[in-house]
Amino acid sequence: MTMKNIYLVGFMGTGKSSVGRELAALLRRRFVDMDELIEFRQKRSIADIFAKEGEAHFRRLEKELLQELSQDQACVVSCGGGIVLDPANIALMKSSGTMVCLSARPDVILERTASSGNRPLLHVSDPAGRIAELLARRAPLYGQADICIDTTSFSIRQAAEAISRKIA
Ligand code: S3P
Repeated sequence: MTMKNIYLVGFMGTGKSSVGRELAALLRRRFVDMDELIEFRQKRSIADIFAKEGEAHFRRLEKELLQELSQDQACVVSCGGGIVLDPANIALMKSSGTMVCLSARPDVILERTASSGNRPLLHVSDPAGRIAELLARRAPLYGQADICIDTTSFSIRQAAEAISRKIA
C-alpha cells in the first residue's frame, strides 16, 4: 500500500514544526522539517541565506527540496510558511500528498514568533502590521489546503490528533 505524504503549511508561528514532529511520531512516519534541512545542507541559517543571496534564492532552494521530497512516500513534511507563494508548489503538494494548513489568531502568531531570531520577514519595526499584511495576502493560498486546523487554543498534541483524525 502506498501512503501519501502529509505536508503542513501555514503562517509562521502556527505550529508546523512542533505539530509535524508530534504527528509523525503518532503515525510512525518519517518527519522532515524543510527549513531545518535547508539550513543543514547549506550549513547556515535562513536569515543568512536571505541576507546574502536574497529571498528569491531561498525560494529556489525550497522549491527544489519540495520536488525531492515529493518523490518520497509516507513522510510528514513541515514546510516553510512561504511555500504556497509558488502555485507549482501547491500543485505538487496536492498531487503527491495531503496539504494540511495550520492557522492561528494573529496575536498568537505575534506572541509565538516574538522570540524567534530566525524569521527575517518579521525583522521589521512593526511585526504585527507585517503579520496582518502577509496573512491577508496569503489567505487565498493557504485556503487551498485539503484540511485546515486552527491551532490557537490547541496544545501540540491536540493539533496532531486533530490532523490524524481528519486524515484517517
Ligand atoms: C517564511 C517562513 C519561514 C522560513 C522563511 C520564510 C515565510 O518558515 O521558511 O523565513 O515566507 O513565511 P516558518 O514558517 O517555519 O517560520
